[in-house]
Amino acid sequence: MPSYPVNKISTPDKQVNVLQVTDLHLSTPVDFMTDNDSSNLDESTIYQHSFEKVLQQALSADMRCDLILVTGDLVNEVKPVIYDHIFKVLQATDIPFACIAGNHDVTDEVGSHLPFLQRTLVGRSTDPRLLSQHVIETDHWQLLLLDSSITGEVAGEITPDDIDWLCKRLSACDKPALIALHHHVVPVNSAWIDNHMVENSERFWQYMAAFEHLKVIISGHIHQEQVRYRQGVTVYSTPSTCYQFMPNEDSFAYDSDALPGYRWLQLGNNGKVASWIERLDT
Ligand SMILES: [Fe+2]
Ligand SMILES: [Fe+2]
Repeated sequence: MPSYPVNKISTPDKQVNVLQVTDLHLSTPVDFMTDNDSSNLDESTIYQHSFEKVLQQALSADMRCDLILVTGDLVNEVKPVIYDHIFKVLQATDIPFACIAGNHDVTDEVGSHLPFLQRTLVGRSTDPRLLSQHVIETDHWQLLLLDSSITGEVAGEITPDDIDWLCKRLSACDKPALIALHHHVVPVNSAWIDNHMVENSERFWQYMAAFEHLKVIISGHIHQEQVRYRQGVTVYSTPSTCYQFMPNEDSFAYDSDALPGYRWLQLGNNGKVASWIERLDT
């Protein structure tokens, strides 16, 4: 079983195939349920199965998977038992993996049945298994994992210390680089979710301008597929493994027709990237 967290990946063809899964939003696993709240049970069951089906479908594809990146909102309520379950499922794949925090990993929304603005946000401490300022080195790439969450808030930030760390890592290694974080760093034309992106994204982009070898940024949080370009960087967002949000809507809306999904990234040995979304088979 690969040790956690993974720091280095080497493959026979020097290409790295990354599976990104994001926004699992799991509640207490059904095996561990102690109450008989059937509405909670239904939601737990659906999201838990959806996450596990995503992994199963992705890993049964005719493609080698070298790394699984889980980009935040692993849980919908911060409880160690839920992380225990997620880590058990990921470890069973026998593939190196890494997990970073999203807003739901550091904040409980009390009253989640209420409209968004009526919920109370309660800060929680981050599970120690979630990584921050973590590097994964591959033969031809440098992967930089950041925790963009702010305790007790929905929006994210890349702190001055994070920017300093990114600049040091990008200066020290001229391999093509990928940054993975939960919150989006480019607006996606939905006012409500763009209110909750990385708050200081302009400052981040100013510092990143110096690094032409920064090629790719991947994030979650917006529960939809998006591809944007800025400063020579391709910026990907990825559907959730559970429910999806409607693209290009200024007010909160679910996209109930969109199926759970995941992203593949093939990081080539020539600095090029191929990436695409897959959706769960119905
Ligand atoms: Fe989410
Ligand atoms: Fe989020």
